[in-house]
Amino acid sequence: MSISMAALKQLVPRTNTLWKPVVRCVSQSSHQKLLPEDYDYDGPHLVTQVPGPRSKMLLESLDTIQNTEAVQFFCDFKKSRGNWLVDADGNRLLDVYSQIASLPLGYNHPAIVSALADENNLSTFANRPALGVLPPVDFPDTLQKLLLVAPPGFSQVQTMACGTCANENAYKAVFFWYRARQRGSLIPTEEELESCMRHEAPGSPNLTILGFKGGFHGRTIGCASSSHAAPLHKVDLPVLDWPIAPFPVTKYPLDVYAQENRQEEERCLDKAFQLMQEYKNKGRPVAGVVVEPIQSEGGDRHASNSFFRQLRKIAKENESAFIVDEVQTGAGLTGKMWAHEYWGLEESPDIVTFSKKMVIGGLYFKEDFRPKGPFRIMNTWLGDPAKLVILEAVLSVIHQDRLIDNMTETGQVILQGLEKLQDKHAEVLSNARGRGAFCAVDFPNTLTRDKAVAALRNKGVQCAGCGARSLRIRPALIFQPHHARMFLDILEETTLEMKAPDA
Ligand SMILES: Cc1ncc(COP(=O)(O)O)c(C=O)c1O
Repeated sequence: MSISMAALKQLVPRTNTLWKPVVRCVSQSSHQKLLPEDYDYDGPHLVTQVPGPRSKMLLESLDTIQNTEAVQFFCDFKKSRGNWLVDADGNRLLDVYSQIASLPLGYNHPAIVSALADENNLSTFANRPALGVLPPVDFPDTLQKLLLVAPPGFSQVQTMACGTCANENAYKAVFFWYRARQRGSLIPTEEELESCMRHEAPGSPNLTILGFKGGFHGRTIGCASSSHAAPLHKVDLPVLDWPIAPFPVTKYPLDVYAQENRQEEERCLDKAFQLMQEYKNKGRPVAGVVVEPIQSEGGDRHASNSFFRQLRKIAKENESAFIVDEVQTGAGLTGKMWAHEYWGLEESPDIVTFSKKMVIGGLYFKEDFRPKGPFRIMNTWLGDPAKLVILEAVLSVIHQDRLIDNMTETGQVILQGLEKLQDKHAEVLSNARGRGAFCAVDFPNTLTRDKAVAALRNKGVQCAGCGARSLRIRPALIFQPHHARMFLDILEETTLEMKAPDA
């Protein structure tokens, strides 16, 4: 399946001036089935506990080779279809987690399968090139397509293998940009080239990236130094002394608590500004600010559009680059192709990173962030053109089946359902929140949340937590209102059991 340039352009509204809401009609067709009949079911089907005996046996075997403490169960991807994940024991689960939020079209989508079966794509799958030195002949055209779904304001893109590589290389691009401005040239001096080999200034400058408490950007040293979601991401690592700003602890729904939230957001913005001054005075200026549109791993923490607009301004005033990490929020789940489109920025971010539902990792960046000299933003593969073939099929389906509208519509069903459940079962559920189908709800504590995740799995819903006590909902873009209702029914059943006196 191939997609026209005109169709791709429609996925992201082309506006770079003050944001105006894009009026979209909710697609009538999104009530229709988005997949063939045999891709959907009336409900989960359980034949064993999850994990079942076969999963447990496989776990024992895998454990002799590597650490398996995070493994939940084994999957039978051949039998999985659409929103339904089949496990090694033949249990069929409704998937609201989509492989850590990374499956755009669910399992074995016909458009992806047919792209894989297309003979014209054979050489792309058979040969993984070193894209930075020997790209295939169609690579410039392919990247043009990736640019057509870029957020407004971007003319440059670099592919990468994963979200962490995207962020780590975004930081590098920021440091190159910052130093080029300081020295007034893109080309490093002899002294810099020589001193960097001893880890000394001016070649190894004392620059920093400001991250937020609760943020998560990956697991390499730079990414871990800007991530503050969980101790296990950082412990034992010699992380860098980079500033950590508080992220607003907001109350939900955001609009109902707008006044209180505004005070909290101002407190955090003031602190971010102060940290920028402090680090400048320490001789460790903040070259870049990195932020997620919704803090995801950190517990689905939201802030207002105005918070992000002001943060963008503060970064600019401080001459810091503004990096938006859309690794988890990008590609339509929030009801827009890019979650930061909601903010109405006067000036677009300097860099936007992506991965997960975009199938390939990478960064969109402004021309000023283009390094001079070969091998500066580089690795052997720089992603994989095979993933771009799949992405093309994915974007085509997103466009044809109006999946971004589907996320708005399904998201409303999820959020309204969560709100109703929390009203009915306030001792167990609270803080329902979301944008599009990117939703979450809180449990009283980590223990009850983890119990709920295990109970839901054994009732046929594959889901996961985030932060200390949140349940996160991250379905594929083909998740429809009838799936949402099924999920909500099972969540209510689980909640009622948790309320039972002997629970
Ligand atoms: C917001 C965000 N950034 C970066 C990453 C890291 O991506 P990856 O696991 O592909 O390296 C993640 C992963 O969960 C993420 O949620």
